[in-house]
Amino acid sequence: MSMGSDDLWEVMSTARSIRRFAADPVDDRVLDRCLEAATWAPSGANAQCWRFVVLRSPEVRAVVARAAAQALAVIEPVYGMSRPAAADDTPRARSYRAIYELHDGAGEHASVLFAQQKLPATSDLLLGGSIFPAMQNFLLAARAMGLGACPTSWTSYGGEQVLREVIGMPDDWVIAGHVMIGWPRGSHGPVRRHPITDVVDVDRWNHEAVTSLDRANAQRRAGTT
Ligand SMILES: Cc1cc2nc3c(=O)[nH]c(=O)nc-3n(C[C@H](O)[C@H](O)[C@H](O)COP(=O)(O)O)c2cc1C
Repeated sequence: MSMGSDDLWEVMSTARSIRRFAADPVDDRVLDRCLEAATWAPSGANAQCWRFVVLRSPEVRAVVARAAAQALAVIEPVYGMSRPAAADDTPRARSYRAIYELHDGAGEHASVLFAQQKLPATSDLLLGGSIFPAMQNFLLAARAMGLGACPTSWTSYGGEQVLREVIGMPDDWVIAGHVMIGWPRGSHGPVRRHPITDVVDVDRWNHEAVTSLDRANAQRRAGTT
């Protein structure tokens, strides 16, 4: 089982997507803590118009597996992805292998749907702003507890309808996200992201910001600290 951590900075910087899971089921105590963390997220007007649906019975997992297979059929040509040869040990092959394992094994593991109630006169983006913080809290809590998790796009590639039907979701709710969970085979590790100088502006768009963190990193690289 993977190591958890109570250090927020370690958790945030190592909460990589985990796609390869052990067979051990996720116990309720761990899952409930992650779900409780999800409920601590902010939402517009603190309306909390969210539902978190745990998908774990064999019948429902079979539908998740269908959604995963459907998504794979859509994304393979889009990303030019194919199953790597057994002998291929390049980083790309390893990454594809993990993606295929996640999709192929979708029916064997639990997952969570993040649903948001539609609100009149509220844009989809604004609605998203009231549910994705909950999903991120869930992902960080999972990482803190050593649990593996991977968001998926499966509801966007034809899976939404079958999942709505199997859980009986009312028409005025939308599925915002779906996260596979399980005990990691392998470990969490540092996330790879663009440096903040590439993504931060101050006062003006495309203004080159030099932040204190940037200066500290430059000094560290130059060995002056
Ligand atoms: C909205 C969303 C949808 C995603 N869908 C998939 C997916 O369908 N299959 C998959 O293997 N990973 C999926 N991911 C995981 C991303 O590929 C992953 O977060 C990204 O490559 C960064 O890698 P990291 O999370 O390991 O740092 C999704 C992530 C997000 C946020």
